[in-house]
Amino acid sequence: TKVVLAYSGGVDTSVCIPYLKQEWGVEEVITLAADLGQGDELEPVREKALKSGATESLVVDATESFVKDYAFAALQANALYENRYPLSTALARPLIAKLLVDAAQKYGADAVAHGCTGKGNDQVRFDVSIAALNPKLKVLAPAREWGMSREETIAYGERFGIPSPVKKSSPYSIDRNLLGRSIEAGPLEDPKHEPLEEIYLMTKAIADTPDEPEYVEIGFEKGIPTQLNGRATAPVELIKQLNTMAGNHGVGRIDMVENRLVGIKSREIYETPALLVLIQAHRDLESLTLTADVTHYKRGIEETYSQMIYNGLWYSPLKGALDAFVQKTQERVSGTVKIKLFKGNATIVGRWSDQSLYTPDLATYGADDKFDHKAAEGFIYVWGLPTRIWSQQNH
Ligand code: ARG
Ligand code: SIN
Repeated sequence: TKVVLAYSGGVDTSVCIPYLKQEWGVEEVITLAADLGQGDELEPVREKALKSGATESLVVDATESFVKDYAFAALQANALYENRYPLSTALARPLIAKLLVDAAQKYGADAVAHGCTGKGNDQVRFDVSIAALNPKLKVLAPAREWGMSREETIAYGERFGIPSPVKKSSPYSIDRNLLGRSIEAGPLEDPKHEPLEEIYLMTKAIADTPDEPEYVEIGFEKGIPTQLNGRATAPVELIKQLNTMAGNHGVGRIDMVENRLVGIKSREIYETPALLVLIQAHRDLESLTLTADVTHYKRGIEETYSQMIYNGLWYSPLKGALDAFVQKTQERVSGTVKIKLFKGNATIVGRWSDQSLYTPDLATYGADDKFDHKAAEGFIYVWGLPTRIWSQQNH
């Protein structure tokens, strides 16, 4: 048998290679490391896979697709899990699943594999996404079954020439890509305690941020950010620049206790500067360009959409149907939003659009008011009629 394994270069996924071969009789392990803009050098990762016994070691740069096809779709839906987490890790999983399935096809593999534990969301996202893309492929998850502690895993790896981590290994479990960092475990497991400053890399502590605010203007076309401060900016570049700007002002930290799909509550820290600013800006532009009923109805869709991303249902039929709804709503969401970055806050301070539904001579309290005040009386009579009748009946 031949297996394509999702590979990060860490101890767990490295140990998966000899484990699959020794314990599960897999003949060939092909590793696949996805470059999603995490900023790591991937050539050493590629070599490490070969040293750990892989027959073939693939590195695929999927950063652009990650931003355009996954992050921007989620942005158009203002996707925030439990109203806070912009799904930076969750969005990467269906894409990696797609890369695995494509590689399995190309190399004629019988199965794909990942190194997720049995306690997390990520295993669900991989397994379900793979099943959606190719229901015939088997999914192997050795780390879900081997029951080894961290020490045992390292010792097992050493028997097969996998070096134990050089540095005293960090107590944290960290997932990182262009959109952000997700940090858990170690001292963070006690939700009572403030995280140590050492865990943050993309965002500055407020004490170290500039004492002057910085303004940034984000231009959107049909719900997609295309301009930064008036300049046309490609998707990956836009996220990079905005990460730097917002992170520099301490914007983008989240500390939350979240509900995992598998029933566990977990304390997670996220750093997602650009994505949080973009969602705020996009939502604001929608309030200028969408009708009230579409805006309100869409909020409910967004809640479901976010849960579906979190719960591994990216490639499901309902998600596809909701995509069609979201796309339809974005036709007029074009314009610019001005944001002030200062001391950990991203504050929207202005917005404008050729598609604006804001009507100054209806909104104004000044002399050029065009709103027909007398028409309100009849409207309120009819609007309040059911309540009036109900009240009369109860008096
Ligand atoms: N809880 C987050 C999610 O389900 C992030 C998990 C990331 N993994 C990690 N090793 N920190 O999307
Ligand atoms: C894991 O356990 O594999 C990481 C955490 C998660 O998936 O939520």
